[in-house]
Amino acid sequence: MKFIIINGPNLNLLGTREPEIYGNQGFEQYLSTLRNQFPSVQIDYYQSNVEGELINKLHEVGFSYTGIVLNAGAYTHTSIAIGDAIKAITTPVIEVHLSNVFARESYRHESFLTPVCKGCISGFGLKSYELALRSFF
Ligand code: DQA
Repeated sequence: MKFIIINGPNLNLLGTREPEIYGNQGFEQYLSTLRNQFPSVQIDYYQSNVEGELINKLHEVGFSYTGIVLNAGAYTHTSIAIGDAIKAITTPVIEVHLSNVFARESYRHESFLTPVCKGCISGFGLKSYELALRSFF
């Protein structure tokens, strides 16, 4: 089983970025914990701040991987192109958010991704990624 976590813009700054919202742990550190929780599966990781690069990665992995866990950051709320990329691939995508986007600004309540994703997990901090992975088992 092959999974990939794809993080979008500003998520490279996890740990220092608005820690009151996103926590104070960096993603790379969390990733090793997560890999230890799922020792028998491959969990790849990709992060980009660039919309087109996220789309390229979805195309690259989207026909061979078991599942994709995607936190597209603010592109969630703006990107028809990422939504179209998810529609174009065959690997199921779970949308994740660290924060509860529905408890935040109204512009975060809109998602171009939710309708084309298998599901959405929002509001559990870094645990959102673990919950998304568990949904495949
Ligand atoms: C986020 C929520 C988005 O609204 C925001 O733009 C992010 C992070 C989250 O993980 O809570 O960058 O996707």
